[in-house]
Amino acid sequence: MMSLSTRSATESDVPFIHGLLNGYAEDGKLLSRPETEIAKRLDAFIVATENDEVIGCASLETFTTELGEVRSLAVTPEFQGKGHGRNLVSVIERMGQERGLSRMIALTYVPGFFRKLGYQIVSMESLPEKVFGVCVTCPKFNNCDEIAMQKRLSPTEAPA
Ligand SMILES: CC(C)(COP(=O)(O)OP(=O)(O)OC[C@H]1O[C@@H](n2cnc3c(N)ncnc32)[C@H](O)[C@@H]1OP(=O)(O)O)[C@@H](O)C(=O)NCCC(=O)NCCS
Repeated sequence: MMSLSTRSATESDVPFIHGLLNGYAEDGKLLSRPETEIAKRLDAFIVATENDEVIGCASLETFTTELGEVRSLAVTPEFQGKGHGRNLVSVIERMGQERGLSRMIALTYVPGFFRKLGYQIVSMESLPEKVFGVCVTCPKFNNCDEIAMQKRLSPTEAPA
């Protein structure tokens, strides 16, 4: 079976990540992020690879010591449907668990994908950290049509 791999993003991945997100943003599938913001938040990004080719990305946003978000998730069209999206989300969740987060959220247009990964729809009003911290500066703030989803993370085992 093909192995799914991810690694931390590096500076040389910034143009790829930006291009991938921008392409989907033009289709209205996600919100784009400026290249400078991606570069500044690079430590929050991971990329998915296949035979050393970078084919996807995701980032971990944290709001409080317990709440995180899967953000900027995307897989190149030709590589979709092979498990990379699921793998990216599970690596982001593990990063969150390692930081002690107990909840992950996602704002998305593909609720079916996140439902498969154990997320449930919640109201935007139940996520004030996101709405008042980030969404207020979004051009779509007053007519947001994304679906908010949430998953509880189980605590990681304490090291022996
Ligand atoms: C959403 C996205 C990241 C999924 O990546 P992917 O690599 O194709 O997903 P996977 O192959 O890991 O799929 C995992 C499961 O979700 C299902 N799935 C994938 N896309 C789905 C969708 N749009 N709706 C419902 N289910 C979906 C798959 O069938 C698979 O289910 P299975 O395990 O029962 O076969 C990818 O389609 C993408 O980049 N889309 C455009 C950008 C986007 O919408 N990003 C999300 C922003 S929050």
